[in-house]
Amino acid sequence: MTTAYYSFVGETMTSTMTGSKRRRRWWALWILLAASAIGIAVYSAEPYLVGDVERNRIPLNDLFASHYVSIAVHAIPSSLALLIGPFQFVTWIRVRHPKAHRISGQVYMVSIVLGSIAALFAATYSVSGFSVQVAFYILTAAWLYTLYQAYTTIRRGEVQLHRVWMIRNYALTFAAVSLRIYLMTGLALQESFFPSLSFDDVYHASAWASLVVNVLIAEYFIVQRVLKPSAGRRRTKGNTGRTVPGPAARPGREGAEPETGSEVEGPAPISVPGARA
Ligand code: HEM
Repeated sequence: MTTAYYSFVGETMTSTMTGSKRRRRWWALWILLAASAIGIAVYSAEPYLVGDVERNRIPLNDLFASHYVSIAVHAIPSSLALLIGPFQFVTWIRVRHPKAHRISGQVYMVSIVLGSIAALFAATYSVSGFSVQVAFYILTAAWLYTLYQAYTTIRRGEVQLHRVWMIRNYALTFAAVSLRIYLMTGLALQESFFPSLSFDDVYHASAWASLVVNVLIAEYFIVQRVLKPSAGRRRTKGNTGRTVPGPAARPGREGAEPETGSEVEGPAPISVPGARA
């Protein structure tokens, strides 16, 4: 039987050689993602977990005593979501320990709801400037909307769509990592090459870039690695390339695949309904 599972990086696992090479590449990418998520989560949450106000990294609004509380209540659950996310994409956890996947998924959801409610307060109290506040409001809305879609699709049994929405949602969670990478890079560049730039310039640009670039990467990834392979697969099965979406483009409906995936041990295989030979 030909296996028609697509890995997170979207390649068919039909050849052992190609499959293992690609799996290794995927694991390397996943380790990088998980390591940076864990690093930033620990770094971000630690000062708030020990309640050390002196180590708060952003200026506080003197008019609102609750500003620090809003950041702490935001940082702790958001860091937890950042930590959990990469493991939700690992196939063997999902396949062999579905209960663990479900429970950690619920913790992830609650963390994001708490983190985003607190983020609304943190953004409102923020003294970082209007442009950053707008970026954070948009990020919060998108964070909650993609979470809502991920939840409702899985409740309806639309597994494939659930994965797509989870990719989008985690891309937004990962904006916390991107923001800090851009900020550090930007400040290093400012020091060496662009002394006329202020900290605010670099911070505002980093906040917007982390949002926009992560959304673009997630969409590119979904189209290239989820939708395109499944469309190509359907064409080779006799479909002449009509653009009307079939079961793979409307995952989880007719022909939805069972939640097995044991053929691919690596993280987050995207199995394409109707692609089994
Ligand atoms: C993706 C949705 C997120 C939104 C909308 C958001 C929003 C915000 C806002 C508005 C602030 C205050 C910024 C300022 O006043 O300049 C902030 C700070 C902070 N956020 Fe988030 N955030 C998000 C994700 C995360 C995640 C996933 C983490 C986990 C690491 C995190 C950790 C922090 C921390 C630790 C701070 C305090 C500043 C610092 O220490 O760098 N945030 N966030």
